[in-house]
Amino acid sequence: MSDTFDLVIRHADVVTAADRFTCDIGVRDGVIAALGRNLASGAREVDASGLLALPGGVDGHCHLDQPMTDGLRMADDFFTGTRAAVCGGTTTVIPFAAQEKGGSLRAAVDDYHRRAEGRAVVDYGFHLIVADPTEKVLREELPQLIREGYTSFKIYMTYDDLKLSDREILEVLSVAREHGALVMVHAENSDCIAWLTDKLVGQGRIAPKFHGLARPAAVEREATHRAITFAELVDVPILIVHVSGKDAIGQIRWAQGRGMQILAETCPQYLYLSAEDMNHPGDDGYAGAKCVCSPPPRDADNQEAVWKALKQGVFSVFSSDHAPFNYEDPQGKKPGGKPQSFEHIPNGIPGIETRLPLLFDGVHRGRLSIHQFVELTSYRPARLYGLYPRKGTIAVGADADIVLWDPEMRTTIRNTQLHHAVDYTPYEGREVVGWPVHCFSRGEQLVASGQYLAPVAGRGRFLPADAPSLV
Ligand code: URP
Ligand code: ZN
Ligand code: ZN
Repeated sequence: MSDTFDLVIRHADVVTAADRFTCDIGVRDGVIAALGRNLASGAREVDASGLLALPGGVDGHCHLDQPMTDGLRMADDFFTGTRAAVCGGTTTVIPFAAQEKGGSLRAAVDDYHRRAEGRAVVDYGFHLIVADPTEKVLREELPQLIREGYTSFKIYMTYDDLKLSDREILEVLSVAREHGALVMVHAENSDCIAWLTDKLVGQGRIAPKFHGLARPAAVEREATHRAITFAELVDVPILIVHVSGKDAIGQIRWAQGRGMQILAETCPQYLYLSAEDMNHPGDDGYAGAKCVCSPPPRDADNQEAVWKALKQGVFSVFSSDHAPFNYEDPQGKKPGGKPQSFEHIPNGIPGIETRLPLLFDGVHRGRLSIHQFVELTSYRPARLYGLYPRKGTIAVGADADIVLWDPEMRTTIRNTQLHHAVDYTPYEGREVVGWPVHCFSRGEQLVASGQYLAPVAGRGRFLPADAPSLV
């Protein structure tokens, strides 16, 4: 007699954003086909006793194989990046197809598909980065791409090769409003940063730690407020990404308190790193470069403010902002092969594999509930980025992207144990409680007892996105 299911996960302590119940999970053709007690047999059976069964993580902000200027190169492509993702409990990633100034958005999307094809081991969507909103982009490319399933895009208020003027931001927001897309905003004031940078460099203050002084909380606060103002003028929701601390949180709380749909994202670096980490000399006096990202990590007070805002629902999503640059690499943190003045250090840190364990440790310490954990890391990103209910929950009809967590397992993070292609982790030596021990993507087990099972590269599928669901 043939089995009813391809896979049955028995005695699962299932946790979603809203519910918790114990049952068996029956999977057929990669989809959850049944939830119930004493399900019929599966061709494979896995006993989940003592483990939590959570929906696979959705990392709604990560950078993989993104084309770079200035001779820089990301260490992770779609293969190594998604391998690391699944080993950290993330079964869907959404990196960015980035338009170049002077280039077409469509060309960026086509190029990014070529980079992903045959490489990804878990499913993926694309956000767009709009760097050059010409009339053609605004009136033709962007509306057409939204219709095809690219329903979220990022814009920058800083970085010379990416930033938009205030007028351009208003134009992009208007297109998002008209066509029902979600705009993600990198909020830092570009001119203030340039002015502060010139002053610091002129004084010979060029070590990595001065990155933090060139991008103080005030420049993030001002840009956050300005972005909120633009959203108000256009009457469209926006999502402020990688919020670093209390000043920007204050602006977001203010807007949310006025009933505006201002959504926000934060990342592990703002819970666990501080400006001091950019001041670590290491062997070559430059190791602080490993923690250079923008906005920069701040201080203990700001970390506390981020934890509180997570607990209180100010943030909708918790993403990695994985930006994989090697440390010992002329195309990475040491452009040209040697330590550089802070303004030439590529911004961003790796974290696609450590995102979930670092937040789960907060669950262990009572900083947020297990339901909030699922909501921030899987359910809300799936909804916002048009992938729900296929992703982001454990329910009949959803993809069988399931992660079995050992909630008591103690792990000391070591880069040698991680699966990205980056030569360091900023969290080296940090102990966390809770680890994703078995991971399934569309019913296929990709990680067993913490061991990566080396599935076929390219098994990951592209996910065209539906319209954003904001609640
Ligand atoms: O420093 C950062 N965050 N680098 C990645 C690119 C971005 O702005 O998200
Ligand atoms: Zn950014
Ligand atoms: Zn980013």
